[in-house]
Amino acid sequence: IVLADRYRPVYHFTSPSGWLNDPNGVSQWNGEYHLFYQYNPYSADHRLIHWGHAVSTDLVRWSDRPIALTPSEGPDEEGCWSGVLVEDRGRPVIVYSGHAHGRQTACLAYGDATLTTWTKEGGNPVIEPPQGVALTAFRDHCVWRENGVWRQLIGSGIRGEGGTAFLYESEDLVSWRLIGPLAIGEAAALPDTDPLWTGTMWECVDFFRLGADGTTGAPDSASDDEHVLLFSAWDDDRTMHPLAAIGRYAGDRFAIDRYQRLDLGGRHAYAPQTFADESGRRVLWSWMQEARGGAAQRAAGWSGAMALPRVLTIDDIGVIRQEPVPELEAARGERLTWRREQGAVASAGDQIEFDLDASVPAGSAVTIEMLSTPDGTEKTVAVVRREADGELTLTVDRARSSLGEDLDTSMHSGAVPAEHDHVRVRGFLDRSSLEIFVDGIALTTRVYPTRADAVGIRVQAGGGAALARIDGWRVLGQEQEVRLSGAAGSEEDG
Ligand code: FRU
Repeated sequence: IVLADRYRPVYHFTSPSGWLNDPNGVSQWNGEYHLFYQYNPYSADHRLIHWGHAVSTDLVRWSDRPIALTPSEGPDEEGCWSGVLVEDRGRPVIVYSGHAHGRQTACLAYGDATLTTWTKEGGNPVIEPPQGVALTAFRDHCVWRENGVWRQLIGSGIRGEGGTAFLYESEDLVSWRLIGPLAIGEAAALPDTDPLWTGTMWECVDFFRLGADGTTGAPDSASDDEHVLLFSAWDDDRTMHPLAAIGRYAGDRFAIDRYQRLDLGGRHAYAPQTFADESGRRVLWSWMQEARGGAAQRAAGWSGAMALPRVLTIDDIGVIRQEPVPELEAARGERLTWRREQGAVASAGDQIEFDLDASVPAGSAVTIEMLSTPDGTEKTVAVVRREADGELTLTVDRARSSLGEDLDTSMHSGAVPAEHDHVRVRGFLDRSSLEIFVDGIALTTRVYPTRADAVGIRVQAGGGAALARIDGWRVLGQEQEVRLSGAAGSEEDG
C-alpha cells in the first residue's frame, strides 16, 4: 500500500512507514552520523518496537538502513526499547531496554564495523531492576567511560519520592554493580500542571558535561563544569515533557541546582538524546509526537517525526540554548519575497524557514501568523511579547490551527530569558511540524490545517516593536511516501 498525505514532513526525518518514537543510539562514526529510533514498521502504533536505523554525512540527507534490532524470544520479545550506542575498544555496542511481560531489563547487542548487523549478547539481560525498593519503572540508558570504568544511568522513579536515575558501574559492560540513585526529583512537591513538574519516572536520561566556554563531553566528576541531566518527566496519564536538570556532579552524586524546560512545546519534543560529534558540538535529537488522534495516525500509515537536529550550548547566565545545526542551510531553496502590508507577508506554502530580528521593548509584541487562510478561519499564531515588567514570553496559540477534529490544539507558552530588547526569531514550518526559536529557546509543536489555502506567514510588530530584518526561504526536501507492508520483511523499505 502506498499512502501520501499533506501532513507528512519533508525535511524532517520520518520513518519509511509505521510508527516512530524516541531517537536512540545517536552518534557519529568515522564522519558518518547515525540515527537509530524506536520503530514499528508494520503499523502506526506503539507495538512490537524495533530499532530503525538511518545514516547521513551532513545531518540533512538521510538514507534508511536495515532494521538494527528486532524483538526475539527472550528478554526483548515484546520490544527493543530505548538505549544508546557506545564504542568498546573499537567495537560498537548497543545498550537498550528489553521489554517483555510488562517489564524492562538492560540488554546488549554488538555491531559490525558498519553498524548494520547486530548480535545480541547471549547473557541478556545484563541488569534487572533493583530489589527491595518500590519503583515506578526502570528503563532507558546513558553509558559513558570515566576513570577507566564504564558508568551507566538507568531511568526510574521511587514511589512516594520522585523520578530518579540509578547509577551503575562495570569493567566490561556485562556485569554491573549498583551504586545508587544519582539524584532524586521532588515530583510530589509540584502539581503536574507546573511547567517544571519533574515526573514520577525519568525516561530517556542523558547526562553530560556542558561548559560555558562551549566545550562538552562525557560526565566527569573531577570537572568543575556544570553538568546537565536531560530526562523526560513521565507518569501514567499525565502530561509528559522534557526537562534539563543543571548542577554539579561530584563522586557518585549529581547536586541539582535548577531545572529548565527543554522545549516550550513539551511532549512535542520528547525523549531528547544528545551526543558530542567529531567537531565537539553537543547535538540533540528529539521526537515530535503527533497531535492528532490514533485513528488518523493509523489511517495515514505513519506516526511521529524527529525534530531538526540542534546544537545545545549553555550561556553565561546558565541558560541552555539550542539552534538547528547550521548544515540545514544546505536545504534552503528560493528566498521568500515579502510584501509590506501592516508588517511583512509571504504566501509561500508550508515548507518554510524564516529568520528575523526585532526590537521588542516593554509592552510590545511581534505576532507571527502561520498557515493562515486569507479569511483567517484557520491560522496558527505565535506571539513574542515583552511584558511591562520586562519579561519576554513566547506563546503559540493553536486554537484555530485547524477545522479538523480529534486534535490537541492546546496553547503553548513560556518565558524566554533575554536581557536585551533585541530578539532573534527563527521558524521552521514543515507541513504539520512547526519549530520556533526565540534567542535559542525552542518551542516545537504540531498543527494540521485542513484548507488548501492555509499557507504562508504574516509578521506584525505592534505596540512599539519594530522589525529590523526579515528573511526566509522555501526549504527543499523529498516527498516521502509511506510504504506499508502487511507482513514481515519490510526492512529494506525507503
Ligand atoms: C519514551 C519511552 C521510553 C521507552 C520507549 C519505548 O518515549 O517510553 O521510556 O524506552 O519510549 O518505545
